[in-house]
Amino acid sequence: MSDIAIVPAPRQLTVDEGRWITADPVADAVRDVVENLDPNEYRIDISADGARLTAGSEDALRYAETTYAQLVESAEPAADGKVAVPLAHVEDAPRFGWRGMMLDVARHFMPKEFVLRIIDVLALHRLNVLHFHLTDDQGWRVEIEAYPRLTEVGAWRAETMVGKMSHGQQEFEYDGTPHGGFYTKDDLREIVAYAADRGITVVPEIDLPGHMQAAIAAYPELGNHPDRQLTVRQYWGISDDVLNVNDATVEFVKTVLREVLEIFPSPYIHLGGDECPSVQWAESEAAQKRQAELGLDEPGQLQGWFTAQVAEVLAEEGRRLVGWDEMVETDCPKDAVIMAWRSAQRGEVAAKAGHEVVMAPCESVYFDYYQGDPATEPLAIGGNIPLEKVYDFEVIPAALSDQEKALIVGTQCQIWTEYMEGPEQVGYMLLPRLSAFAERAWGSPKVSYDEFLARLRPHLARIEALGLNYRPLD
Ligand code: ACM
Repeated sequence: MSDIAIVPAPRQLTVDEGRWITADPVADAVRDVVENLDPNEYRIDISADGARLTAGSEDALRYAETTYAQLVESAEPAADGKVAVPLAHVEDAPRFGWRGMMLDVARHFMPKEFVLRIIDVLALHRLNVLHFHLTDDQGWRVEIEAYPRLTEVGAWRAETMVGKMSHGQQEFEYDGTPHGGFYTKDDLREIVAYAADRGITVVPEIDLPGHMQAAIAAYPELGNHPDRQLTVRQYWGISDDVLNVNDATVEFVKTVLREVLEIFPSPYIHLGGDECPSVQWAESEAAQKRQAELGLDEPGQLQGWFTAQVAEVLAEEGRRLVGWDEMVETDCPKDAVIMAWRSAQRGEVAAKAGHEVVMAPCESVYFDYYQGDPATEPLAIGGNIPLEKVYDFEVIPAALSDQEKALIVGTQCQIWTEYMEGPEQVGYMLLPRLSAFAERAWGSPKVSYDEFLARLRPHLARIEALGLNYRPLD
C-alpha cells in the first residue's frame, strides 16, 4: 500500500488495522447530506463493511469526495480484481470560509481553458474562491456591451517592456510584440458555472479608481486630461492616470458594474482601491471643485467618495464590497471586506477598525515573489517566499483580541502576472506553493514540514494529471 497522502490534510484522520475489500471503492461508497453536521463539515467512515461519506451540505459532500478520492489511491490490489482499502475515519471542516487565490489576467491574458484548469486545481485543494483580477493599467479583460471600446481598445497593448522594472525607471526596452485578449460574457458565464459546479465562487475585481489606464486609453473622457490620448500601459508600476471624479464617470462605472453583476452571481464584488495616486486630482480644477463641495481636506479623500458612489450599485443588488487594504484609509463603508496585502499588520488595523478581513499579506502569500535563488530562478518581481515559508504562514495575527480574530474570515494567495507570460510560468510560480497555502487555509494540523513533504511528493502527480506545470521540489 502506498501511504495515505491527502492535501490539504484533514483536521482529523485515524487509520485502523484491516481493509475493506471492494470491486470499486468510488461506486460502492454510500453518500448522504445530513442535518446533524455543520454546512462545511463532512465525515468519512471506511469499515470492513463499506465506506460512508456524510456531509452537512452539497459543498461539504464535494470536500468529502475530494478527500475520499485521495484516500482510496492508497488501496492495494486484492483477489479477483478487487482492491483493499485501508480502514479510516475522517472528521473534517475548514478553519476559514474564504480560501482563495487571486489570478491577475490583466498584465498577461490567460486563455479560458487555463482558467478552468486553475479552477480544477483549486477544487483539488478544497479551496473555494477564485478572485479574478480582470482590469488594470495594462489590459481590460471583460466584455462590457455598453462600452465596446473597453475591449476593442483596452484589451490590447502594442508591446510590453522587457526585463525587470526598477524603482523610478522611465525608459524601457520593448519586445515589439502586441499582447492582449479578453473574455466574452459567454466565456465568463462558462467559467462561473464551471467553478460553481466545483463549489468555487468567482469574485470579479474591477480595480478602481486607480489602475484604470487601459479604460482611460479607451475612453479619454474618464481621465483627468481628456485631451491626452493615452496608450494601454506597456510597462509595470503604478500609473498616475486615474479616473476623474466627474458625475459622468461615476455613471460610466456604475453601468460597467451593473453588467459585471449580471455575469457574476458572487455575493462579493472586489472594487480594488489599491495604489491610487492623487496627483492628478490635486492638479485638476474639476477635482478641486468636487473636493471643496464635499468639504474634504485632501484630494486623496476623493477616493473614498468615489468608491462609495459606485458601490451603491452593489448595495442595490445586495452584494458586498471587497477592497484592498488602502480602502480602510479612505472612509470606505464599514461592511466592506478588506483584503490585507501590504503586510499582515494592515490586516490587524482593518480588524481593529471592525472590518472583516481576508489575509493576503505580500510577505507570505504573494506567489509572484521568488521561491529560490534569483540567480537561478526565472525573473520575478522580488521578495523570497520558498515553499517552507508558505507552510509556516500563520493566518491570524497573534496581536488581535479574540473578538478581532473572529473578523479574520479567510486567506488568499496572489498571482500577479507582470513576469508570467502564460500558463507555464503561472504553474511554476503557483505550484506547489498553493498546496502549502491550502494547508493553512484549511487549518490542517501542523505536524512538520517533512511530514507535509512526504504527502506532497505523491500529490504532485495529481497536479501533473491536470496538465499544469509546477516547480519541482528541491
Ligand atoms: C496590490 O498588490 N497592489 C494589491
